[in-house]
Amino acid sequence: MKRSIKTIFPDAITLDYVDPGFSAAVITWQKQHGRHALPWQQSSDAYRVWLSEIMLQQTQVTAVIPYYARFLQSFPTVFDLASASSEQVMSHWSGLGYYTRARNLHQCAKQVVAQYGGNFPADPALLEQFPGIGRSTAAAISAFSYGTIAAILDGNVKRVFARVFGIEGYPGSKPVEDAMWQRAQALLPAADIESYTQGLMDLGATLCTRSRPACQRCPLQTRCIAYAHERTGELPMRKPKKAQKEKQALMLVMQHENQVLLEQRPNSGIWGGLLSLPEIDGMRDLLATGAPAWTDRLPEVRQLIAQFGESEEITSLPEFTHVFTHFKLHIQPVRASLSQRHAMIAEARYVWVDLAQIQQAALPAPVKNLLLTMAR
Ligand code: ADE
Ligand code: SF4
Repeated sequence: MKRSIKTIFPDAITLDYVDPGFSAAVITWQKQHGRHALPWQQSSDAYRVWLSEIMLQQTQVTAVIPYYARFLQSFPTVFDLASASSEQVMSHWSGLGYYTRARNLHQCAKQVVAQYGGNFPADPALLEQFPGIGRSTAAAISAFSYGTIAAILDGNVKRVFARVFGIEGYPGSKPVEDAMWQRAQALLPAADIESYTQGLMDLGATLCTRSRPACQRCPLQTRCIAYAHERTGELPMRKPKKAQKEKQALMLVMQHENQVLLEQRPNSGIWGGLLSLPEIDGMRDLLATGAPAWTDRLPEVRQLIAQFGESEEITSLPEFTHVFTHFKLHIQPVRASLSQRHAMIAEARYVWVDLAQIQQAALPAPVKNLLLTMAR
């Protein structure tokens, strides 16, 4: 049965509907088929729950288990952890990765001792104030330790939600994540929060896996939009790739006898402070598509050359592409042999350099390669 949430909570959120069978299906499934023997499920002690949730934030269950056991052996209570040295804590964490977690863990233990006498508060909003505890982790700790009805939303839960509700968009983006938090909140059961929370985690980890989810065994199959539309491979959507920027540069290779004209680049921007070939302005930010042919810029090319000497002929060399982290630079080299060279009237940023000195010059790699190929 699908009811409008507006009829339940008149001025609450604006979801089209909530499915009241969702949490019931998760809870029933968790009790029958979920995980019950994980070490941190054996106690509702908030210290133990907190420790496991921090360790499980970015690490697989199987990797966490031995670390969790060693940690509890050395630091059986939050007081033991708070009074340990950083070296002791770090050495126990060594190998788990994401070491900010260990530093935050130690800080958090000290704060819980100093501010709460060693008792983790039950309110997720208070838990969230501690270092290393985000909104989802705060809810998980509170639900498992104190039975608080609070919503989790980690990567696994986002995947389940994206598929079951057919939520488009990248779950890491703010609007999609906000919408998912609203769902998470609206779907909460009135009771059995431990089974529900663990059930969501178990579903995401064991059935609704990233690739080849086990839909045939899934308790949510009948209400799953991705399953119905055969879109489990498309949902959740991946992080959109930023459009790769492309730029053009028209570079002038002016040669006189055995020398080539180079220009010192400004200190900021790409290749800051390096020597490079003089460029015709305005080519740099044009998209490759729709960029003018170099012959369109011939008047400017001639004008620039005329500052330095008399050219016999101007020819183009093959265009090539240099790939930076954030963009591709299409370089169109244009070559001019000078029959005569004017005394240097232009600024000191221009220098004539022997082709034999190119190997040693402070040039960007693609420019150096171009000149070395020409010198051969
Ligand atoms: N990942 C995060 N919390 C977990 C938990 N309590 N059990 C299994 N995997 C988890
Ligand atoms: Fe995930 Fe398949 Fe279950 Fe849908 S039916 S929630 S895709 S496992």
